[in-house]
Order: sequence, then structure tokens, then C-alpha cells
Amino acid sequence: MAAEVVIRPAQNILGSLRLPGDKSISHRYAMLAGIADGTSRLTNVSTGADCASTLDCLRALGVLFDRDGNSVSIHGRGSTLEPPEAPLNCGNSGSTMRMLSGILAGQNFTSELTGDASLSRRPMLRIIEPLSAMGAKFIATDGGRPPLRITGARLMGIDYALPVASAQVKSALLFAGLLASGETRIQEPVRTRDHGEIALRAFGSTVKQDTNSVSIVGGQKLHAIEAEIPGDISSAAFFLCAAALFSGSQLIINNLGLNPTRSYLLDLLISMGVQIAVVQIEEKHGELVGTVQVKGAALHGCTIRGPQTALLIDEIPVLAAIAPYTSGGIEIRDAKELRVKESDRLAALASNLRLMGAAVEERDDGLQIPGGQHLHGAVIDSFGDHRIAMAFAIAALRADGETLIRNSDAAVISYPEFFDTLQSIAQR
Ligand code: S3P
Repeated sequence: MAAEVVIRPAQNILGSLRLPGDKSISHRYAMLAGIADGTSRLTNVSTGADCASTLDCLRALGVLFDRDGNSVSIHGRGSTLEPPEAPLNCGNSGSTMRMLSGILAGQNFTSELTGDASLSRRPMLRIIEPLSAMGAKFIATDGGRPPLRITGARLMGIDYALPVASAQVKSALLFAGLLASGETRIQEPVRTRDHGEIALRAFGSTVKQDTNSVSIVGGQKLHAIEAEIPGDISSAAFFLCAAALFSGSQLIINNLGLNPTRSYLLDLLISMGVQIAVVQIEEKHGELVGTVQVKGAALHGCTIRGPQTALLIDEIPVLAAIAPYTSGGIEIRDAKELRVKESDRLAALASNLRLMGAAVEERDDGLQIPGGQHLHGAVIDSFGDHRIAMAFAIAALRADGETLIRNSDAAVISYPEFFDTLQSIAQR
């Protein structure tokens, strides 16, 4: 039977935390370590099931590793992987399927990538088209949905303008570009997270960056690294927003990833009235890391649109969940991509907010959620989506009465410890 969790209202949020490693960085470091020369030692690796899917796929491709809790030593194979004996199961992880496809496109064998019911509905044409243009062959079902069958090739570099802003696709093409002949250049419609570029540089490759384009020359060798992965700011977002809801809150998060393409949430919360200080900032393998101190306040509203939507893509669920408690409400625009995430997140957010008594207008590309509303506890569903499960645990902290979240175990995808950690900082 699927798990359920009951969340009771809180008075405020107090505590000092250190979070498991960033999911986006963990995937990329693991994949690049697999095709580097030498043994990489990664600590504070993401504890989520998605990153376990990446490691399982790498193992099936002949990459050996030793795991000790959240530390993994990965013995790189250079750029050549082994043909897998069975289909590679990416579970719920779009990152695994899309980014690994970039590496598999450059191998001299055929592989098949599968996923769970949610991943099997997600669009893959966005990687199939450019990787096919580089020389790989793909067979997919139903207009570009998984399972994917990839026959690798000697790839050629391309100059490609991404039709949709997607860091997963950008990284997939950079990884393929590393294995291709010539130069691969990728233009983005708006700036997305740059962990792929930073990780490639950390492993010793040169990646050039212009305003809205990145490029890589193929044939460069990667070298193993030793790295501690910064805490995941998209996981921290749930606690930052929880703290923001209560004027008595005081929360400190140490060792947090602060990459500027990920940390726009902090600027947004400050603009909404939250007191945030960032201290002890340092750079680790090109990624900014620091300590964030938060004090809650009366929250103003905001509008999220255009480039901000891309920068907040994983934080919009929790922002929508706290929107009714702001004074001015939150309007989310240009967010059609949220309809093709682990669930249709716009529909899931609207449906759960309404169950808790909120007024909300669902639009094709966003949500309009008025402020100054009182919510009540309800029985809601995660729709099997980790960020929906966690977002509504935060909404429940200020609702009247208890909220029961069905399929709450979806949180294991990115943050298995989430409900325990929330319990430890929510004062009742
Ligand atoms: C990710 C990019 C985003 C994000 C996902 C992780 C990444 O997806 O939603 O959780 O690590 O590059 P898209 O690239 O599909 O926007």
C-alpha cells in the first residue's frame, strides 16, 4: 500500500540544517566520473532514488563503484562504456534518461532506456532530434516517448538552438559533444542551470560560454576528481518557504549550493519581505556554496514569468503552495513546461490548492493564486510527484486542521529524509 503522511499546523520553524547533496550535480558528477580516467571520490551524493537510478544504469554499463553511505568512489572507464545486457531502467528520472542518452549516443553499441509510468509519458523528442542530427539512431514510441532504443555512432558536432529551455537537454548535448568530432554549440532561449558546463570544467574539459550559448570541442579527456557535493537548494526551498510563513522563524542551512542559476529563490523571497543573509560563501569545483540564514516575515506577493520561470522551475510548486498566505498572491506565467514534469504540476497544484479551500485560476501556461486566503486541512494526493508531496506538506503548516498527503512516499525521488527533517524543525 502506498504511504500516507499527516501534517499538523506549526507555530514556526526553528533549526540548523545541512542537506543531502544536490540532485542535478550528483547526476552529472556520477556520469562524468563514469567516463573519466581514474577514480573519482564523491561525498554528500544525493540520497534520492533518481540518483540511485543513474548509478544503477552506470553499473549496467560496466562502471564499477564502491558506495559507503552518501560517499561513492567511481572507477572511470574513459569514454568507452560496455554494452548493457538488459534495458537500462531510469525509474522516475528524466535527468538520467536525457543526460545518459547524450553519452550513449556516442558509444559503439545499441542500448535501451526504460522508465516508470510517469517517465514513460515524458517528451524525449527534445533529445532525439539533436542527437540524431549528430549521427545517433533512435527508436521511440508514441511521438518520442520512452522506451528509447539508441544506436550509438561516431558523432559529429552541431550548432543547435534549443526550442525549449532545458538544462537536461543542454547537458545531454554537451556530453555528446565531448564524444563527437569538431565543435558542438548550443544556444538557449533563456538561461538555464549551468551545472553541466561547470562539471565538465571540473573534470578537466574546456567549455566556452557566451551570453546565451555554450560550446565544447570533442575528443577532450576527463580526469577523476574528489568532490563534496553542495546541499540541494531545490530541497532547501521547502524549508526556506516554510520558515518564510511564520514571523517567529529562524532557520540556518549550511553547506548549501548557491549557483546563481539556481538561487533566484533567495532574491525572490527577499523581494517578498523575508530576511535572508548569506554568509561563508566559497567556491568548490566552480560551484558556489554557503550558509543561508532566514527569518520569517509577513509575505508580499509576486509575479514569476519569462526567464525567472526557468530559474525557478523546481521551486514553483512550493511557491504556489504558499501563495494563498501572501498578501498579494502569486502569478505564475510562461510555465507550460510544468505540465510535462513528473506530473502535470499546474493541474496538481490547482487541484490540491482547491481541496484545501483556496481560490486559484489555472491557465494554459501558469496559475493565478490570490493572496490573503485561509486554507483548511484536507486529503490531498502527491500524484506520484515528489515536489507536489513536499510542497503540500509546507502549505499544511499554516492550514486549519490536519492535512493527509496520499502517496507521500514520492518524496524519496529527491529527498527521502524530507518528512523527518520537517518534523525536526516545525515547532508545534
Ligand atoms: C534539471 C533540469 C530541469 C529540472 C530538473 C533537473 C537538471 O529540468 O526541472 O528537476 O538537472 O538539469 P528541464 O531540463 O527539463 O527543465
